Amino acid sequence: MNTIRSGIPGLDSLFEGGGFPKGRQILVTGPPGSGKTVFGLQFLINGALNFNDPGIFVSFDDLPRHIRTDMKSFGWNIEQLEKEFDPPLLTLVDGFSARVGLTTNEKFTIRANLDSLLMVLNEILEETGATRVCIDSLSTLSTIVKDPVQVRKEILTMGAILGEQGCTTMLTSESSESGVEEYSAQGLIRLSYDELPTGEFRRLILVQKMRGFEHDFSWKEFKITKDGVKIFPERTIGRGNLR
Ligand SMILES: Nc1ncnc2c1ncn2[C@@H]1O[C@H](COP(=O)(O)OP(=O)(O)O)[C@@H](O)[C@H]1O
Ligand SMILES: [Mg+2]
Repeated sequence: MNTIRSGIPGLDSLFEGGGFPKGRQILVTGPPGSGKTVFGLQFLINGALNFNDPGIFVSFDDLPRHIRTDMKSFGWNIEQLEKEFDPPLLTLVDGFSARVGLTTNEKFTIRANLDSLLMVLNEILEETGATRVCIDSLSTLSTIVKDPVQVRKEILTMGAILGEQGCTTMLTSESSESGVEEYSAQGLIRLSYDELPTGEFRRLILVQKMRGFEHDFSWKEFKITKDGVKIFPERTIGRGNLR
């Protein structure tokens, strides 16, 4: 199967094919603060910097302005990827402002419905030839569209359309309860953490599913450092009955 490198140090070695299945949808779930947003941005930013893959980041949870600032702490210059390449290597879409009733100066925005998401994505795809997309987060998107079941269906349709165009999609989601998207996405990665006797917290990652692929199936330690997410494939962590 055709694969792409995830751009996340240590992650690709967990997959038989040496990376994510190209053109598929991968769901990243985990509680708040578990690292989903950083994970998604790193997939795009390293994809752009290391593999020249143009990316689209749809942000429902944060203002794009804040993302640009926050990611500087990892040494990632989003504005450079947006402005200094033609077509841009990264495009941010503002799904936050309309949701909370703010005005915005962003070039790409999403009103509170799915039509505009699909329209905006298509427009950017045509303009940039993006091959990596991240939607952050599905949980928030589901709260702004009236019928959550409809959202999931549309997301799947969208994933299929994006996949046809060779686009690999990462979706983030807060809940660990089994939603339609967990059954439907081809891949499922879980982010979590546990507490050590010292009171420190340790970050954990599990590749729970990657359809059509053999993959590691154990919790591994990961860290978020000043360079971003880094997985330690050699550190398998047993967590008893925790899920
Ligand atoms: N520069 C940094 N260095 C180390 N860790 C950071 C840095 N910036 C953010 N973090 C960590 O990353 C976490 C943010 O994760 P995030 O991706 O926003 O979580 P989620 O999207 O799952 O809620 C922060 O809570 C913090 O612990
Ligand atoms: Mg987040």
